[in-house]
Amino acid sequence: MRDRVLDDLLNEGILLDPEAAELVLAQADPAAYVRSILAVMTQHPLVLTAEHIKTYAQVKPSRLPPVQVNPVLEELRKSPGVMARPKDSSIEIISDITGNSTCEGSVNDFARCFNDRFKKLKKILSRRPELAGSLPVAKAVKYDREVRTIGMVSEWHNTKNGHKILEIEDEEGRCTVLIHKDSEYLNENIVNDEVIGIVGKATSKGDLLILKDLIRPDIPINNAMVPSDSSSSIAFMSDVHVGSNTFLKDAWGRMMHWLKTEGKDEIQYLVLPGDVVDGIGVFPGQEEELEIEDVFEQYHMLAELLKEVPDSIQILIQPGNHDAVRPAEPQPTFPKIIADIFDSSCMLIGNPCYMKVEGRKILTYHGRSLDDWISSVQGLSYENPIDTMDEMLKRRHLAPLYGGKTPLAPEKEDHLVIEEIPDIFVTGHVHGAGINMYRGVTTICASTWQSQTPFQKMHNFSPDPALLPVVHLGTGKAEMHDFS
Ligand SMILES: [Fe+2]
Ligand SMILES: [Fe+2]
Repeated sequence: MRDRVLDDLLNEGILLDPEAAELVLAQADPAAYVRSILAVMTQHPLVLTAEHIKTYAQVKPSRLPPVQVNPVLEELRKSPGVMARPKDSSIEIISDITGNSTCEGSVNDFARCFNDRFKKLKKILSRRPELAGSLPVAKAVKYDREVRTIGMVSEWHNTKNGHKILEIEDEEGRCTVLIHKDSEYLNENIVNDEVIGIVGKATSKGDLLILKDLIRPDIPINNAMVPSDSSSSIAFMSDVHVGSNTFLKDAWGRMMHWLKTEGKDEIQYLVLPGDVVDGIGVFPGQEEELEIEDVFEQYHMLAELLKEVPDSIQILIQPGNHDAVRPAEPQPTFPKIIADIFDSSCMLIGNPCYMKVEGRKILTYHGRSLDDWISSVQGLSYENPIDTMDEMLKRRHLAPLYGGKTPLAPEKEDHLVIEEIPDIFVTGHVHGAGINMYRGVTTICASTWQSQTPFQKMHNFSPDPALLPVVHLGTGKAEMHDFS
């Protein structure tokens, strides 16, 4: 009975994590129960978790009407996307899922994607001198001496005696790691599915490692941006949300005036890291917050607004969770029908996108996973999104947390691993703004052009709109231009 119910759901494309499966199977009609949960969710995750069930089981459809499925939008979301070529050779795409997606969403795909994550991060960790001679996890616990090993965290919990227990695994096996209550690492935030290095000592029983040092892939401490002879600057303009009735027309006008006058000589590249339009059907009741209710018209309006950008500036457009592309990350760029709306000065890229601009390495990611980081890791907040970006760099992964708000597509390769160290790392999504530096990487949260939304007001969140971060590609100097 149990397997048949789960198989039937799988045939409908519904995957459940083990805890969710237990909750569902405890119901009188498991299939009807799952459908009632999905009916009130604004976006369907690839895997339904216990967290989803606990959250949405409370929601009465009358209070939270399901978003109407728009057939046009559904088609757009299935499109593989077309990547427009840059008009000059100063932009080189290093990594982008556009045109490379192989994902079919099967359970095997997930295993393959997680294996790839493990391999890539193990390779980075293996270069660390502290982890020289590391052993497979199952072997490491068998030695009666200090050992080194590398594993992916499958789960962790605090014990009633005040210690912390981690379960880690590699391709061959798994083991338990104990972080003693007196360890300096006790309060270290551990995230499921992150890959870590362990220096530890096995107990005489041979089934547990006592942690001595926890090593993260991280950015090397001596990493630095090397100045180049480029005289160009790049600006980042996230979360424009054209079509929303809270789009900041006046601030946009001030920014555009600057771009056409003083900014014209300063800026050579302009990147829009996602949520370029407000979209449709993103959350229940969105129609009431839209000035433009047709998604194509929203993109037409954006294209009109961008026509004012001086021709000397190369524009790059990336999708976010409000855009009409596949919501699961990595997101391919826009489908042809939308790409055709923009003129040839706009280059369309996927999310995330790793590129070189005049030799400067730039990682631009819309930042949907910031929601999961902030809700799961103590000390992180919407007020300081830059701190969360540091956590991504430490773990060399944009979205290790699986099963949260960030839908993940299990591609053959895990495109969310930060394999190469960028000079500039940009996100948006949370509508905050900031510039910082983490071990030689300039980190930027690229503001928004939308004022406080009713949802943000309800959650007492004040955005930082109408700010334009600009980085000089030669010197690396970064500054924020204020148009609020
Ligand atoms: Fe946004
Ligand atoms: Fe967003």
